[in-house]
Amino acid sequence: APDFSRGCSDAIPVAGAGTIIGDPVPCCPPTSIKIRDFELPRVRKIRYRPPAHLVDCNYLYKFELAMERMRALPDDDPRSLFQQARIHCAYCNEAYIQKEPPLDNPDQKLKVHFSCLFFPFHRMYLYFYERILGDLIDDPDFAMPFWNWDSPCGMTMPEMYVDPASPLYDENRNVDHQPPNLVDLNDGIGTNELKERGIVFDDLSRRGQIKTNLSLMYSEMVRRSKKATSFHGKKYRAGCKFEADQGCRPEPGGGAVENGSHIAIHKFVGAKRPPFNEDMGNFYSAGRDPLFYAHHANVDRMWNIWKTLPGKKRRDFSDRDWLDSSFLFYDEKKNLVRAKVWQFLDTETLGYGYQNVDIPWLRSRP
Ligand code: C2O
Repeated sequence: APDFSRGCSDAIPVAGAGTIIGDPVPCCPPTSIKIRDFELPRVRKIRYRPPAHLVDCNYLYKFELAMERMRALPDDDPRSLFQQARIHCAYCNEAYIQKEPPLDNPDQKLKVHFSCLFFPFHRMYLYFYERILGDLIDDPDFAMPFWNWDSPCGMTMPEMYVDPASPLYDENRNVDHQPPNLVDLNDGIGTNELKERGIVFDDLSRRGQIKTNLSLMYSEMVRRSKKATSFHGKKYRAGCKFEADQGCRPEPGGGAVENGSHIAIHKFVGAKRPPFNEDMGNFYSAGRDPLFYAHHANVDRMWNIWKTLPGKKRRDFSDRDWLDSSFLFYDEKKNLVRAKVWQFLDTETLGYGYQNVDIPWLRSRP
């Protein structure tokens, strides 16, 4: 958990392998003295998140209205898109000091990427974001869309996000990667560039790229995610003795999906503007792009799918250290709440799920 009592400092943007340090960026969400413990909602009905490429105009109208209202909130309102983006930046770019830091480094900063905190942190973040959107349009059943990039029809940016007149648009993106350009889930470049670089697959057609992406998903989700550590990422522990010990430092190592398709999509969407490739191409700015949330909804969906894969049952970690890890978010009523990992393991107890769509990569064993 972050140690809120020790404040929050400007975040540090990094590029590539963490090498280039840019000017510090102010990322601290508003502070509040009162922190409540998050309570699981009373679920009347499950809201199902739809795939972004399949929503109808009624849905789009509601979603755009909610986003328009979120964007219109004043910058100091914790529910505004401005502040929502800061949450990601603060937790990803070292704005907080870790509670129970290693004994030899009392100022250890917290980071949620490339470790076992990746899936739970982002699930919580999206949960509150979705509740805020629903509240802004007085629809407690509103479910955010997911970008179904693991399926042939979802391998381009979803159309509703590329309309410059829409509140879902973000101008800091790679314009060369707009539809119909397909993503290469291996490294986040588009089909155009693959051709330019003369990279040869068996078949450079759309079908070839789709096949490659599907088998990549199969190996990430099935082959390379057999254990909790290979799926979630390595342990990042509180209260270790020495920073040099395994798991005492942030970013001990991410899981297959985080390192693979997840990063590829970030790179695909972010603008061609080195060194930081804002917005989606960098953690500090990623949350400014509405497409970020649809992307992460699909990452979150992968967690659900992973637990229901056929064969030997895949289980989350069960140790207290992980289950009790906590993060702070603002809820739709602007209360600062402390959410714990154990509360976020099952999406249905949180009141949401994902619309059932075909999962073609399950049949795409390389
Ligand atoms: Cu917190 Cu996809 O990044």
